[in-house]
Amino acid sequence: MSSLLILFLTLPAVFSTESKCPEGFTLVKRTPTAKNNFTKEWCLGVFGSEDCGNRDYARSICNNNKASISLPESREELQLISNASRLSHDVYSAIDGQMSPRCIKKYIQKFYSFKTVEGECNIKNQLFTFEDANTDPTFVFSLLPNYPNKGDGHRFNDTTPFVRAISGCLKLSQYWLVKTSTGHMSGGGDARTDYCMGQQGNDQYPKSDEIRSVFCGRPPL
Ligand SMILES: *[C@@H]1O[C@H](CO)[C@@H](O)[C@H](O)[C@H]1NC(C)=O
Ligand SMILES: *[C@@H]1O[C@H](CO)[C@@H](O)[C@H](O)[C@H]1NC(C)=O
Ligand SMILES: *[C@@H]1O[C@H](CO)[C@@H](O)[C@H](O)[C@H]1NC(C)=O
Repeated sequence: MSSLLILFLTLPAVFSTESKCPEGFTLVKRTPTAKNNFTKEWCLGVFGSEDCGNRDYARSICNNNKASISLPESREELQLISNASRLSHDVYSAIDGQMSPRCIKKYIQKFYSFKTVEGECNIKNQLFTFEDANTDPTFVFSLLPNYPNKGDGHRFNDTTPFVRAISGCLKLSQYWLVKTSTGHMSGGGDARTDYCMGQQGNDQYPKSDEIRSVFCGRPPL
């Protein structure tokens, strides 16, 4: 009898349990689809640190928070993250998504003519590889005006244009994360590609812009 009572008392608590995220992360609810590994809930956080333009370093920031480098799936998620974020007005955040080495080669061959590569290396296919299988990148692609969109690698001489390096790592403009004095989003913003070595760039591999935060994602606790 008493064990029945306990069962009766604890059941509602079990079913009403809200998923929680660790400190620094915000819970987002998602529509499960094949493109986000049927994810219903995900924890997203933006973590500030120097030189997140260096992809390995940005990745390590997420790993230290038991998460992987991630990205927002919708405008609503960005607004939630924006409200939760205590970041200053830095310009860019590193997000998941990196051009595959095979595709970088193809774009280096084609880039001088600014032509989109079809097939495997088209953005609709496997141009970018993602570490976070639980987020659908379609929304971020909709923010990407063109790609790759950084041309420091260009060197032209009279006859032969050639390219040294292609920017292959995705970043998100933090206009999304900036709140105005009235607490509302300031509006626009887009996604872009940048070089992946951050401030450690060199002659062979150009420096990226300064990117001082990274999106990390993980399952709820
Ligand atoms: C974000 O904050 C603004 C202003 O405080 C509020 O109006 C809005 O509903 C919040 N959005 C979300 C998704 O929490
Ligand atoms: C997809 O989701 C399942 C269930 O949550 C998880 O176990 C699996 O690791 C996920 N797949 C990938 C590739 O992350
Ligand atoms: C232009 O660059 C190509 C590739 O490096 C080289 O083969 C060619 O000689 C250069 N042409 C001139 C006019 O410098």
